[in-house]
Amino acid sequence: MSRPQAPEYIKRLAVYVPGKPIEEVQRELGVGEIVKLASNENPLGTSPRALAAIREALRELHRYPDGGGYALRRAIAARHGVELDQVILGNGSCELIEMLARAYLADGDEAVISQQSFVMYELAVNQVNGRAIAVPTKAGRGHDLAAMAAAVTPRTKLLFIANPCNPTGTYATRAELDHLLATVGERVLVVLDEAYFEYVQRDDYPDGLDDLRRGHNVIVLRTFSKIYGLAGIRIGYGVAAPEVIATLNRVRSPFNTSSLAQAGALAALDDDEWARRSREHNLEELKFLTTELARRGVRFTPSVTNFILIEFERDVRELFVEFQKMGVIIRPVGGPGLAGCARVSVGLREENEKFLHALDHLVVGKGR
Ligand SMILES: Cc1ncc(COP(=O)(O)O)c(C=O)c1O
Repeated sequence: MSRPQAPEYIKRLAVYVPGKPIEEVQRELGVGEIVKLASNENPLGTSPRALAAIREALRELHRYPDGGGYALRRAIAARHGVELDQVILGNGSCELIEMLARAYLADGDEAVISQQSFVMYELAVNQVNGRAIAVPTKAGRGHDLAAMAAAVTPRTKLLFIANPCNPTGTYATRAELDHLLATVGERVLVVLDEAYFEYVQRDDYPDGLDDLRRGHNVIVLRTFSKIYGLAGIRIGYGVAAPEVIATLNRVRSPFNTSSLAQAGALAALDDDEWARRSREHNLEELKFLTTELARRGVRFTPSVTNFILIEFERDVRELFVEFQKMGVIIRPVGGPGLAGCARVSVGLREENEKFLHALDHLVVGKGR
């Protein structure tokens, strides 16, 4: 008797390839000091307030977490001036992306995404046998919001905007977003993924919560993984209209966020000093890196966040291994329009210098 098989659409799924952990590279290559610039983490570490709260929460580890995440949701709601029933927690914002696909897409329903955008959208859509409609970017790699609005059909349920976008580091402006929201109206749920919100310092960068308050059909996703330095504990959140949150809660597993994650996030949320320091550090180092890249004539996409998309114009898989051998983990990317590109996260000054040293050795010195 043959064993049961997964449906074809599951067999076709690509497996998400995360940035390589430092220990794995050390094991594989026997290299000592490794610098990881592959996953857009906060190089300064974790909010100290969050760490203290997590240590305290360890005492109650034998208890199940509060499945509803009441204290954290209440604090998020108060901070953003929304109601408690407008907030949902996720095991990272990635889990919220998956919940959105599970809750809103049935066989063949469509989700509009941008072509050079966060890979999780397409994976989540494919997991439920939906159709991801990938719209080419504008010149300069930003989302083409006008074209994305035009790609909406009667089967479209979701439209994903990574703002800022990973891996391009670009952002959609207030005017572009206003135009898109006016065009699509209520017909689709617009997902405003603002994982890097706290890093952006541009006057025309839109805060999606303003659109929610104006009554638009949007869900804003934020995370504690980036500026708050809690990537390892997995926690993010979504803010939307109560009926959207109620829908998502139907597909949420009961204890999806741990007690440690909730405690850490609750403390991090108030740690404005940590966010400020991290933002300032990032701005300074982003400037340093981009100045140094420009000086070397290396092409990159200008970034408003904590990573840079670099155009190496050669086989980045090979280059990735060569960088590893020199103790630096970068992130090769792929897909339409991204051949020859890799993403490099902004690190500490000495980490950025180590990257530039490897770059000089592997790329610049070789005449590219
Ligand atoms: C655009 C974007 N959205 C969401 C996430 C997911 O973050 P997390 O699941 O850690 O909250 C990331 C992480 O890299 C991202 O780049």
